[in-house]
Amino acid sequence: MKRIAVLTSGGDAPGMNAAIRAVVRTGVAKGWEVFGVKGGYEGLINGRFIPLGTRDVGGMMQRGGTMLGSARSEEFKTEKGQLNAIRSLNEAQIEGLVVIGGNGSQTGSLMLHRHGFPVVGVASTIDNDLYGCDVTIGVDTALNIALEAIDRLKTTASSHQRAFLIEVMGRKCGYLALMAAIAGGAESVVLPEIDVDPEHIAEVLTSAYEKGKEHAIIVVAEGAKYNANALDAFFTEHRDRLGFDLRVTILGHTQRGGIPSAYDRILASRLGSAAVEQMAKRNFGVLVGEIKDEIVPTPLEEVVSHPKELDRSLIDLAKILD
Ligand code: F6P
Repeated sequence: MKRIAVLTSGGDAPGMNAAIRAVVRTGVAKGWEVFGVKGGYEGLINGRFIPLGTRDVGGMMQRGGTMLGSARSEEFKTEKGQLNAIRSLNEAQIEGLVVIGGNGSQTGSLMLHRHGFPVVGVASTIDNDLYGCDVTIGVDTALNIALEAIDRLKTTASSHQRAFLIEVMGRKCGYLALMAAIAGGAESVVLPEIDVDPEHIAEVLTSAYEKGKEHAIIVVAEGAKYNANALDAFFTEHRDRLGFDLRVTILGHTQRGGIPSAYDRILASRLGSAAVEQMAKRNFGVLVGEIKDEIVPTPLEEVVSHPKELDRSLIDLAKILD
């Protein structure tokens, strides 16, 4: 192995730059040439490679986003797109690829692996919905951003005796919502994994009001059947019985932007470096993720075929504490 490339794909996550930096510096330490791919899989298809040396990734660790850019490529989902990407890699004489990203991105890695191209994945998504890792790059930062928002909203909610529906990201997975609800002391949480009757949320709000609470916080995952706007629409007809005046805040992409936390920088550094070590061992077709504080390679076939379940004990904890 002499020449490798690294790309970031899918939704960006705080810490991706630290992972790129670690890939580059670990590769260079081995005497390899390292290239960055601009614009994710789309850039791979179009051969957008840039050489990256140690200095090129200096000062990147503390930056949010991804210095390589990211994209969700429809073309790469097709076999033709995948073969074109491999052609680009072969033309640039690149022998291995590190893919930093979440579920969709690692499905792409698996496709390259099945076509026989050496690939190693790095677990990165604020959704934390990847099998083969306890926590993915970006989750810690996103959770802290959500918490700061919850803490701030609670103070204004108390001033006006209001309830807030606070929507956090998570199209298919409620991890971020569940953890934000526990750490933010929410009255209730609405997750994509569990059907919730809006009547139940109405009862939670009414009962909190009747107990004399100054505020009530409901954390809602974006991908829940009743997301914040749907719940708000449902409540327009039942406003009076809630007691509280109701407001909606959708945190959206604020959770993905900005400076990565110390935890994310360290995790990303460890995972980026570990991906290169797997390359050096020629252990291809794996995702590197952290499980119980150890960096573990898990076959991409396994990663992509297993949904990551939410920890039921945390759901129970949220119920006890709300
Ligand atoms: O990366 C995951 C994620 O942030 C999801 O939580 C969210 O649903 C989605 O990406 C948003 O994607 P986009 O940035 O393409 O709107």
